[in-house]
Amino acid sequence: MPEACTNHDETTLFRQSWTLYDALSEMNYMFHREVYEQVGRLLAERHEAGPWSMLDLGCGNARFLGPCLHRTPPASYTGVDLSPAALEEAGAAYLKGLGRVTLRCQDMLEAVEQDAENHDVIFSSYAVHHLGSAFKQRLFQACSRRLKAGGCFLLVDVAREEGQSREDYLEGYIGTMRSEWKRVPPAQLDEACAHVAAFDFPETLSTLTRMAAEAGLTKSRLIGRHAQHHVLVFEA
Ligand SMILES: C[S@@+](CC[C@H](N)C(=O)[O-])C[C@H]1O[C@@H](n2cnc3c(N)ncnc32)[C@H](O)[C@@H]1O
Repeated sequence: MPEACTNHDETTLFRQSWTLYDALSEMNYMFHREVYEQVGRLLAERHEAGPWSMLDLGCGNARFLGPCLHRTPPASYTGVDLSPAALEEAGAAYLKGLGRVTLRCQDMLEAVEQDAENHDVIFSSYAVHHLGSAFKQRLFQACSRRLKAGGCFLLVDVAREEGQSREDYLEGYIGTMRSEWKRVPPAQLDEACAHVAAFDFPETLSTLTRMAAEAGLTKSRLIGRHAQHHVLVFEA
């Protein structure tokens, strides 16, 4: 079994074939529409409470987050990603016109561990499962330190069932990709399946909740679940 890590190999798909991920999300195979409807509602609630700031870890091109932010603009937004192509699109298209936007080409764990600012909302969508367990634990610790009082870590990600091995998870997920993702051309589907097999290290919900609690984020809420895709909120 390959070891998960924070080296940058896991982002190859996104750096070299950003358009493939973009196409997959547009086809809604990972439930982006449903997930971001829920994210948008949570951000609207936060917006009602007054000015707020956001750090987005693994922001990609912010294609789905962008419209939420345009509806309820944060006082400041910082997006972090390792893909220059995705960041360029984020700035030039999906986040264009928003007030204070900072985009950083950086490893997300490094970014949050070295961050000098605190945030009201730390967000990460479909990126944390690329990290190995020890790095996820560090990420929760760093996020907990970087949240303002009353802030939250809003996590969108795939998760394994309780007791399910990574191998069984992959068999199920890749099986669904091969049987359901019919609009993806075969060569690109092979590429996407190979990426998942090599770089996806999802945890169970109980492990994520435990990691969060150990980092001081003792309140957790499951906002939504769409097959393996989850929307979670962690707070102190
Ligand atoms: C599946 S995409 C998700 C993009 C966007 N957040 C969304 O919801 O559609 C995962 C993103 O995480 C980025 N990524 C993966 N590992 C990373 C890391 N260690 N540091 C920063 N970005 C990373 C990839 O470059 C990619 O843009």
